[in-house]
Amino acid sequence: MAYEVASIPGDGIGPEVVDAIQPLLEDVSSAFGVELEMTRYEWGSERHLQEGAMMPDNGLDELAGYDAILLGAIGHPDVPDHVTLNNLLLPIRKGFDQAICKRPAILFDGVESPLEEYSGGDIDFVVYRENTEGEYADMGGQEHPGHNHEVAVQSAVFTRTGTERIVRAAFEAATERNGKLTSITKSNAQAHSMVFWDQIVEEIAAEYPEVTVERLLVDAASMDFIRRPEEFDVVVASNLFGDILTDIGAIITGSMGLAPSANINVSGEYPSMFEPVHGSAPDIAGDSVANPLATILSVAMMLDHLGEAEASDALWAAVEEQLADSDAPRTPDLSGSARTEDVVADLRTRI
Ligand code: NAD
Ligand code: IPM
Ligand code: MN
Repeated sequence: MAYEVASIPGDGIGPEVVDAIQPLLEDVSSAFGVELEMTRYEWGSERHLQEGAMMPDNGLDELAGYDAILLGAIGHPDVPDHVTLNNLLLPIRKGFDQAICKRPAILFDGVESPLEEYSGGDIDFVVYRENTEGEYADMGGQEHPGHNHEVAVQSAVFTRTGTERIVRAAFEAATERNGKLTSITKSNAQAHSMVFWDQIVEEIAAEYPEVTVERLLVDAASMDFIRRPEEFDVVVASNLFGDILTDIGAIITGSMGLAPSANINVSGEYPSMFEPVHGSAPDIAGDSVANPLATILSVAMMLDHLGEAEASDALWAAVEEQLADSDAPRTPDLSGSARTEDVVADLRTRI
């Protein structure tokens, strides 16, 4: 099958990685007969600096017809983050109803966790992050700088539809995994939104008696991700809490450079988007040492979403095999000295 994929490499290490993995994608195409026809969009902060906008006004219309979107990363030291992200990445997630964000946290064989007592296979959970509303709802905040009593208001919006769909998706995932769901809130302080969330979890839990439900407050959950990560199976959280927790999930499983994600369109009308959890990493950008595996695993999630399970499994397995091989090249985030291209070249031999 052939698929039309919009590629938005973006900023910093985004283009380094997206460019480096192209030959690997061609290998997957020829090995499995899955043609990923990539159309590249040079949208991002350089465009903003030159033309005053991250993407064209009709950017979303351009993307709407694709089968999927692959995104590198967005963020530039010379442009404020709220400008770059609110004018490219977040409008795609919101505009294309990508309400379900799946972020696996897996400690692969051969990868060292900073939690020294854990080794390959000991940590394996997935975070279902609400992805279009909650604390990221753009309600047009109010700021009154310069007044005697300055105030900034940033509202969070939790709709029944939005909350039900992420919670239900997480329960479904739990039935296909190990039957455990952890719902993470801050209902002790945020009485409105989070108590509403808790109620919805309780209602939907009644439909899934076979799933064990645990409720945690986000502060305690942050601790437990480190203290007892092996006990998590499916974790469901709001947009902001899911964002924060998935960086913890990434580092306890070895590196930001290994964590993939899928932003799934729930209306069936628009493409889903696949991107690493990490950002543009300005501290290593330009050095060609970014770990490409988070983006490669995101492509594996894309292939799976497109129904190409065989190609997806093969790509995923090639990454697992490489990480388990102590002689294989590793980038510096995994304590190696290899460059991005070396990791890709080695993976090509494993497809
Ligand atoms: P970051 O994820 O870019 O980097 C955090 C740390 O992880 C850095 O030390 C970085 O070197 C390391 N790292 C990240 N990806 C890596 C990889 N593939 N290989 C090796 N090391 C890697 O987070 P940050 O520094 O907070 O953000 C940098 C910029 O990226 C900011 O502008 C931020 O807003 C943006 N950002 C964008 C996205 C996105 O586009 N999806 C996600 C997160 C952050
Ligand atoms: C992520 C990122 C984004 C988010 C930022 C860059 C807006 O941190 O994808 O995890 O918060 O969703
Ligand atoms: Mn994040």
